[in-house]
This record gives sequence, structure tokens and C-alpha cells, in this order.
Amino acid sequence: MTFQNTLEFAKLLDSQDQLYKYQDEFIFPRIKGEKVIYFTGNSLGLQPKRSKAYVDEVMNDWANLAVEGHFYSEKPWWDYHERFANPLSKIVGALPSEVTVMNTLTVNLHLLMVSFYRPTKTRYKIICEEKAFPSDQYMFQSQVHFHGYKPEEAIVEIKRREGEHNIRLEDVLAKIEEVGEELALVLIGGVNYYTGQVFDMKTITAAGHKAGAYVGWDLAHAAGNVKLELHDWKVDFAAWCSYKYMNSGPGNASGCFVHEIHHNNPELPRFAGWWGHNKERRFKMEQTFDPIHGADGWQISNLPILSLAPYLASIELFDEIGMDALISKRDKITSYLEFVLKEIDKEVYSTFEIITPANPSERASQLSVLLHGEGRGLFDYLMKHGVITDWREPNVIRLAPVPLYTSFKDIYRFGQILKAGILR
Ligand SMILES: Cc1ncc(COP(=O)(O)O)c(C=O)c1O
Repeated sequence: MTFQNTLEFAKLLDSQDQLYKYQDEFIFPRIKGEKVIYFTGNSLGLQPKRSKAYVDEVMNDWANLAVEGHFYSEKPWWDYHERFANPLSKIVGALPSEVTVMNTLTVNLHLLMVSFYRPTKTRYKIICEEKAFPSDQYMFQSQVHFHGYKPEEAIVEIKRREGEHNIRLEDVLAKIEEVGEELALVLIGGVNYYTGQVFDMKTITAAGHKAGAYVGWDLAHAAGNVKLELHDWKVDFAAWCSYKYMNSGPGNASGCFVHEIHHNNPELPRFAGWWGHNKERRFKMEQTFDPIHGADGWQISNLPILSLAPYLASIELFDEIGMDALISKRDKITSYLEFVLKEIDKEVYSTFEIITPANPSERASQLSVLLHGEGRGLFDYLMKHGVITDWREPNVIRLAPVPLYTSFKDIYRFGQILKAGILR
């Protein structure tokens, strides 16, 4: 499709957009009385209007039933999390028994590393991407220390080539082969938080397995954004946060995936708690832990129902729309944003550069723009003029035109505000 950088054309695209109506499902902050253009759903998604009713329901059940709410509320709390299994499994390409919700992302990755990072004297190395999200870096360092190894020996980073912004698949595969029999675990962010690069998770997972390692994914920027087939790709484990593309609310619960091949493996150690114990016998208060066969068997504590309520509201919205429709709009609107950015860049004599891969199969909802010469001033200008973006040091603005609530008209308007900001 040939795009045009005009208001009429953007409106035409909106009129053809089957997801256009879903903007009304969300609450937008306002600046000077105007709804903002919101490009930070990769950091914290907007609040779905329907979440409040889900939270109110729990508050009312708590008020009216108190402890009895565990079993007799509209959606009983003791198995509240099981409502996520079907819709979540569709989002990440899993069997319902392979997904669960619990804790928060870094906590879950740590817990999953308890099961899947079991270094030996000869096989103890972890492969991750260079400049992984800091929380992952701290996690790797502390896990390696915990097992008595040195981070500089046990953590192997895949580097970007000199002068390149993204990591090449061939370099990931070469590194896996090079580390070979010393490799215990590959754990990478499925979508890089800084550049928006989407990794070829299927190929990397197969390569890690060929080397005899476990393979896990941090899907913080991928869940609800990218087409995932975790079961078919034979990923061992994965975890994601729900407050980005899945709009569940600040700091809200994480989701986890554990492949079914691991569900009945008694050799796999885990940190246990009563919520992972045989569901039928949980309240018999037995001494011996008998894990649920499935990702639920990694649960530890009874769940924070007030947090899960808005997550459930949002998940149901995803279920209504389906990932295929979301991804189809995502590709179109991301390409339109790329086109508008390039048009503006010509008009302002090349003051910025898109560092996200140009290949649509290597990117999703995010374009990261490296500013040449322009600093935080431009970011502040955008903010003052009703565009919420995300600033990353030293000079990158991240833009996520989330398909659920961004219109093509927003993209056109953003281009005009950006141009005025650069020429100010
Ligand atoms: C890629 C990635 N990993 C891990 C985290 C940490 O998430 P949490 O604070 O929920 O553990 C984030 C947070 O934004 C992230 O983007």
C-alpha cells in the first residue's frame, strides 16, 4: 500500500480499521483538555474502562462475604487465576495447562531459573543479549553468584557488531554453538526493550536445545504484542509482565509458561508453596508437597485477587479481538508511523534515525528513534503538546503505536507536532 502523509489519508485508514472502536474501551489522560496521543503502552498500557467493574466486584464480594468470598463470591477467589488459562494460552500460543499467573516478572524469572538453571562444573554458562534489561542482568549475576560461579565466567553476552544497533541472528546462533557443551541456559528478551528488535525465538530455541541447554524467554515486550507459539517452539519456560501491552495496571501480576514436557518431571527442583499443591487436597494441610501437573504447580502463595481483577478484564478484551486482528493492525500502523517519520525527517533535513529493524518480521509495536543533536528538549516539547513518548538515555525516544488504542489520525497529528518541535 502506498501511504500519504495527509490528514485525509489517515482518516481513510481509520475508516477501514476494524479495531478503531476499541479506542473507546480505554481511558486517555488529557493535556490541556485534549486526549493525549499515547505512545508508551510498551511501558504502561492505558486503563481499560471495564477494569473498574472487575475491581469493584472483588471489593463488593469482600465487603459482603468477607472470608466466604474465597468460595462463594461471583468469581470465587480460590481458583480465580484459572480463568486466565484459556485466554492467556491463546495469547502466547500454549496449552491452557502451560500458563499461569502469579507474582511479578523478575520474581517469576528467578523462580523459573530455580528449575531451569542448574549449573554443573562443566555446563554452567548462560547466554543472554548484550544490554539486557537491567533487572535481568542483576538476576543473572545474582543467580550465578548463588550457585558459586563468577558472572564474568558464567554470563556470555551476544554483542552487536560495531556500528550496528541490532543483534544478528547468525551471531546468536554462532555464540550458542561456540559455548556448546558449557551452555546451561539461553535466556533472552523476546523483544529488546530499547530497540524494539524481535528475536527469532523459534530458531534460537531449537539451537539452544541442540547444544543441550534449556531455553527461556523474558516476554515483557512480547506478550500481547507478538505472535507467539511457545508450545510448538518447545520453549522450556517464559514469563512476562502484564502492565505493558496487556494493560493490567501498574506493577501488576506476571504470567508464566512452563512447557508440558516438564510438568511431570520429579527431577526438576522448584521452590514450592501451598498454592502449587494438589488442588483437591490443598486444604487438607498435608505435609508432603504434591505439585499440580501444569504451570499452576509453580504457584507459591494464594493470589492477590485485587490485582488479578483488572488483568482479567484486559485479557477478556484480548480474547474478544484475537491476536491475529491485533497483529494485522499493528503491522499497518507501525509501517504508517515509519513512513510519517521518514517524511518528516526529509522535511527537517535528517535529524533522526530509526534504530528498530526495518524488516517487519523483526519488529512489532515499537519504533525507537535516535535523535542526532536534539536532546530531551524535544521529548519535553512533545509532552507539552499532548504526545506521551518515552525517553531513554542517551538520546532515544521510543514510540509504541499500540494497535488497541492508537488511530492513524494520531500518527498523522504526531508527525505534525514532531516537525513543529524540531523546527521550533
Ligand atoms: C524486558 C524487561 N524485563 C524485566 C522487567 C522487569 O519487570 P518487573 O519489574 O515487573 O519485574 C522489565 C520492566 O519493564 C522489562 O522491560
